[in-house]
Amino acid sequence: MDGRTGCPYGSHRSLEPRGSLPQPAWKLDNRPEIFDNELLIRVDTLNVDAASFTQLEQAAEAKAAEVGGEVTHHLADAILDIVRQRGKLHNPVTGSGGMLLGTVREVGPRHPAAATLAPGTRLATLVSLSLTPLLLERIRRVDRERDQVEVDGWAVLFASGIYAPIPPHLPQTLALAVLDVAGAPAQTARLVRPGDDVLVIGAGGKSGLLCLHEGRKRAGVTGRVFAMAHSRASAQRAEALGLADAVFTADARDPLAALEAFHRASGGRDADVTINCVNVPGTEMTSVLCTREGGTVYFFSMATSFTAAALGAEGIGRDVTMVIGNGYARGHDRVALACLEENPRLRQMFEAWFA
Ligand SMILES: NC(=O)c1ccc[n+]([C@@H]2O[C@H](COP(=O)([O-])OP(=O)(O)OC[C@H]3O[C@@H](n4cnc5c(N)ncnc54)[C@H](OP(=O)(O)O)[C@@H]3O)[C@@H](O)[C@H]2O)c1
Repeated sequence: MDGRTGCPYGSHRSLEPRGSLPQPAWKLDNRPEIFDNELLIRVDTLNVDAASFTQLEQAAEAKAAEVGGEVTHHLADAILDIVRQRGKLHNPVTGSGGMLLGTVREVGPRHPAAATLAPGTRLATLVSLSLTPLLLERIRRVDRERDQVEVDGWAVLFASGIYAPIPPHLPQTLALAVLDVAGAPAQTARLVRPGDDVLVIGAGGKSGLLCLHEGRKRAGVTGRVFAMAHSRASAQRAEALGLADAVFTADARDPLAALEAFHRASGGRDADVTINCVNVPGTEMTSVLCTREGGTVYFFSMATSFTAAALGAEGIGRDVTMVIGNGYARGHDRVALACLEENPRLRQMFEAWFA
């Protein structure tokens, strides 16, 4: 945009309210002409955040039941609508976004990577779509198995926006799926100590499987890892990984029943560290109840309510440390990709799912 330099955090693109940071902004300026410290990306794939995709999918199913038509069609319309209204894929119900895969089209001369990043590079953004200016020309396909959407579009990355070049040895849609949830295994690596009892809730999903790997690695032979899955299919995935001391099914929205199922598996002991990787609301109390006094709950799930977690823990008098699932941890992309390198079974599983 005429050689102008934008705010490194992107506030120059916030239209409502003007000058606010882009994540809390209601609407962004998504014009695909860049300021001289921005990156312009030709976007081909969106990896929609699991909590957001689930919400949009449920709304599309309800609409199809009401007025007819294809669920994927209603889902695509809903995504286009959000982006048209907000200039970004920021789900107004869940508040979450996702990330994207694309090709660098233009690098502003004052962008921090101006000297090293060339147009034509394939990359995945590691900042949320809930703050990334996005313009969608069309949606080519909605993939309900992978929560991914093939699109023709443009995105802008601010000077502070992190990204990862796509590793050449990995299929791109696979790399995108893993990088989207990279914060989960990286935080697990920080929180779990040798000898800990670790509970992963939502253990058969993408982040859950990565956390089983990282949790096992960090807890070591003196620790124990427990996998709480929901459906039979996700329990089978967690079992097939062969890393957990016990895999069991429970509905984490039903705290007392879930606690009982966990205690059956753990011999009545609470977890030292609980990692919540679920994609639906209402699972805060299961996470708190299953964690010992003085233990840690890591809420990676974007469907977590701060109020429910804080008041719920207070309500049962449980003094636990609760960690918000910051999507970024230094080196999180390398930790997540290393899980696949270290564990061929995990890699095969992700390849079958996403490649
Ligand atoms: N903090 C961050 O920066 C960040 C970044 C990306 C994603 N996220 C969030 O992380 C969460 C997980 O993402 P993901 O991509 O790993 O999702 P995913 O692959 O869809 O996995 C979610 C898992 O939750 C399980 N689940 C659903 N309902 C449940 C219930 N009532 N009780 C127990 N488990 C249940 C699902 O099991 P079934 O399939 O068997 O129902 C599924 O295995 C989402 O909330 C997403 O928004 C956070």
